[in-house]
Amino acid sequence: MTTETRPVVVAPSAALDPAALKADFPILDQEVFGHPLVYLDSAATSQKPLPVLAAMDEYYRRDNANVHRGIYQLSERATAAYEGAREKVARLIGAPDPRTIIWTRNATEAINLVAYSWGRRNINRGDVIVLTEMEHHANLVPWQILAQEKDADLEFIPITDDGVLRQDVFDVLLRLKPKLVAFTHVSNTLGTINPVVEMTRKAHEAGALVLVDGAQAVPHLPVDIAEIGCDFYAFSGHKALGPTGSGVLWGRRELLEAMPPFMGGGDMIREVHLRRSEWNELPWKFEAGTPDISAQIGLGAAADYLLGIGMDNVRAHEQELVAYALETLPREVPGIELYGPSADQRGGVVPFNLPGIHPHDVAQVLDRFGIAVRAGHHCTMPLHERLDLAATARASFQVYTTLEDIDALAAGLKEVQTLFAG
Ligand SMILES: Cc1ncc(COP(=O)(O)O)c(C=O)c1O
Repeated sequence: MTTETRPVVVAPSAALDPAALKADFPILDQEVFGHPLVYLDSAATSQKPLPVLAAMDEYYRRDNANVHRGIYQLSERATAAYEGAREKVARLIGAPDPRTIIWTRNATEAINLVAYSWGRRNINRGDVIVLTEMEHHANLVPWQILAQEKDADLEFIPITDDGVLRQDVFDVLLRLKPKLVAFTHVSNTLGTINPVVEMTRKAHEAGALVLVDGAQAVPHLPVDIAEIGCDFYAFSGHKALGPTGSGVLWGRRELLEAMPPFMGGGDMIREVHLRRSEWNELPWKFEAGTPDISAQIGLGAAADYLLGIGMDNVRAHEQELVAYALETLPREVPGIELYGPSADQRGGVVPFNLPGIHPHDVAQVLDRFGIAVRAGHHCTMPLHERLDLAATARASFQVYTTLEDIDALAAGLKEVQTLFAG
């Protein structure tokens, strides 16, 4: 396979040098089937930089002990690192109070926490919850379970053909006086960046609470909880350069205070008697049992790493990559179908299809050239139904993605076409 010389359509962003950053990600320095690895599946999970690996390694080598329990050096150091990570993550998302950062395993668990704890107490028969057609199953199925249990109604904001939410229909749905509006900040399949500040404002004016699924936003753009003004914000650490097993629910303090615990057990209690218990204060009320200590410490290191690069720079870099991909792929790969909005309205995600070739075949052939992309429904089956697509292939980006990676994708896709034409 050859990578053709590319015409420079976008000047490389001065503030971020992805080729230099790549050196921080040891996993990227390998060959797959004799080709240098081109990792284009960061929306599924990102790779982890050295400082994240080092923070976790140090915890296990030096500080490993349970948190909040032992009155001895190791436990105190482990607790300091674990709680220190909470402060770092609070800084990353502009949360003024670290005690409103609840550690979860991932975004899915964070959303389920709200559905089970807040939802079961506040959603009743006939209440309306507004979602969107572009939600990841993680921000759909928990509400389906709740709605079935409570006989509540789910309504959906539709999308336009290029994957933008229909704000005019949202305005109409708000007249139903929903109790909750829950939507993704950035679509994991189309990359659409939703107008989260404006949607939150409108939902609040209609009397609804707002949950934002930030799984694809926190890793890719500046997120300021205070500016968004929402009530709950959920994301996964493993997509934001952190480890698997790390995740966050941020919630408004007074809501979290009023919510019952999600799970019972150790650490989430202040007092336990045989027939009753009193809950611990925030955030521990929602953190039953021994947590994934090293994962959250790793996420703290990831937050520092991203803040060190600067989230404005991350966003500028990914916008440049998307603009380049949207320009290059149709030119180099005749007939390719691209989905989603323009580069200025989307995060680092490019879904596509080669007509007549199943995306699984596309991904499998690309793998033989060392190129990793995702193929399938990306946990957005209703969105694929709406777009009348059985599946798509998806390239997605991170700070370490280069324009050359996109050239390699284009060259790989030409190879796929040649193979299936013959
Ligand atoms: C927008 C969005 N929400 C939620 C999730 C669920 O993330 P996790 O599987 O880490 O809980 C994902 C994962 O792809 C996602 O992209």
